[in-house]
Amino acid sequence: MEKMINGFRHIPYKAESFSAEEMIQRSEEFYHFLDSRRSVRHFSDEKVPEEVIRNIIRSAGTAPSGAHKQPWKFCVVSNSKLKSKIRAAAEKEEQENYNIRMSERWLKDLAPLGTDTNKEFLETAPWLIIVFKEVYELNEQNEKHTHYYVNESVGIACGMLISAIHNAGLVT
Ligand SMILES: Cc1cc2nc3c(=O)[nH]c(=O)nc-3n(C[C@H](O)[C@H](O)[C@H](O)COP(=O)(O)O)c2cc1C
Repeated sequence: MEKMINGFRHIPYKAESFSAEEMIQRSEEFYHFLDSRRSVRHFSDEKVPEEVIRNIIRSAGTAPSGAHKQPWKFCVVSNSKLKSKIRAAAEKEEQENYNIRMSERWLKDLAPLGTDTNKEFLETAPWLIIVFKEVYELNEQNEKHTHYYVNESVGIACGMLISAIHNAGLVT
């Protein structure tokens, strides 16, 4: 039956439930699936259908967020010229990071990963997904209203984004 809370219509939620054995099996399988994801730094230029990218972003957009403000924007880039500009800008930032911003300790912690300032993959990968956080929204009077738990909400959405990408058999 339809329920009203503070004058707002609420849609009843029905959770799927499982036996103890099913829960153990499902949770273990899901753990193994997530554990097989890796941060990848070398990409193929093989084409990926745009619909896959749309579905991945739709999945990320189901993330919970502070007061359900969904304080994110996902921008997708496939244009080669724009990807080259993004690579150049990212490499410039990374040069500052590696040469100035990062502490000795930070560089030492990164050493086993073998990362550096070279971001060639930003031109190779068929799609770049750029995630923006929206710190505030504008009301009808063009006044700023701060969003809530923005970093946490966007962080969760990114976690769901990379899981959706992994589920599609792609890499991040
Ligand atoms: C907030 C954050 C920042 C990261 N920054 C970088 C980065 O700048 N360059 C990079 O190659 N990997 C980066 N990574 C990936 C981590 O190095 C990687 O998640 C970690 O080594 C564990 O490996 P895995 O993702 O394959 O499990 C970052 C990950 C997170 C969550």
